[in-house]
Amino acid sequence: MQIEKIKMERRKFIRNITIGSSVVVLPLNLPAKSVAGKPKKKVSFGIITDVHADVMHDGDYRLRNFLNATKNKELDFIIQLGDFCQPKEANKSFFSLFNNHPGNKYHVIGNHDFDSDNGPATLDVVKNFYGLNNTYYSFDSSNFHFIILDGNEKGPDDKQGYPRYIGEKQRQWLKDDLQKTKLQVVVFVHQPLGDDEAGLINRSQIREIFEDANKQAGSKKVVACINGHTHIDQNQEINGIHYIQINSSSYRWLGSNYVMTGRYSEKLDNCYPVMRYTAPYKDALYAFVEITDNKIIIKGKLSEFVGPHPKDMGYKGSDLEYTKPDISDKKLEF
Ligand SMILES: [Fe+2]
Repeated sequence: MQIEKIKMERRKFIRNITIGSSVVVLPLNLPAKSVAGKPKKKVSFGIITDVHADVMHDGDYRLRNFLNATKNKELDFIIQLGDFCQPKEANKSFFSLFNNHPGNKYHVIGNHDFDSDNGPATLDVVKNFYGLNNTYYSFDSSNFHFIILDGNEKGPDDKQGYPRYIGEKQRQWLKDDLQKTKLQVVVFVHQPLGDDEAGLINRSQIREIFEDANKQAGSKKVVACINGHTHIDQNQEINGIHYIQINSSSYRWLGSNYVMTGRYSEKLDNCYPVMRYTAPYKDALYAFVEITDNKIIIKGKLSEFVGPHPKDMGYKGSDLEYTKPDISDKKLEF
């Protein structure tokens, strides 16, 4: 766990990319509207990510908060984007909170979901715990096609840290799955696929697969890719596809240069020793997303840091601009 988090500190500047005149402009299929002018297609879902139940003392509270907020909404499904909890008996009750949700629910596997007290858990252990036949899969909901990718595969040059790669077999499955569907596609994955060095090693290769599918379809088929992992609030558009980073429900990772105790009781600081390397968010963060014929509307949540803002602790990460205790509202067109 520590190695990855220290590695995350090396993340370099993340720049916003918008489509310019110099990049490929894909032909748009104008959305069909109903007679009443309402969108023909609409899918709604709730999203939470990076709860890190093994780091935080209040993971249960944060997850309950999200699940309570789903109750007065008409959602097609809920999804968590990884770094949820370690696959162990002690986390069964936390896991069941999510899985007892009465509607459709989906899991994306994060790198920390392989953590255990005895070295990395096997893929079978993770699959059994999360009740998955496979860690990459797809489903249709309300006239959209959703693809879940597993970014935790070992790459050819992986020597240290957590694996963050999508191998040949999964890439072929992705191409086939994109080919098979006639619907517009939204992708979920734990690690960023946009322009972020904390993302998958072969993120540009995966982006090319999306862009090829769009070219082949002659329309904007893949419209967005949504990730967790980075604990920042940021989005960018690359060659007509939105890459949306959903902030952690729980905290911003700061690392061993920014240790702070005393924000919680001494007992909690001792029971959850990794918490001192984080800047926790006061409230649970999560978002509700609505996608229509041509818009992605994200309703997020704003909070505050428990204790000082990282910049007041001297934190100088290149992603400081996106370091905030918020998931901001967004309205993105495609
Ligand atoms: Fe992660």
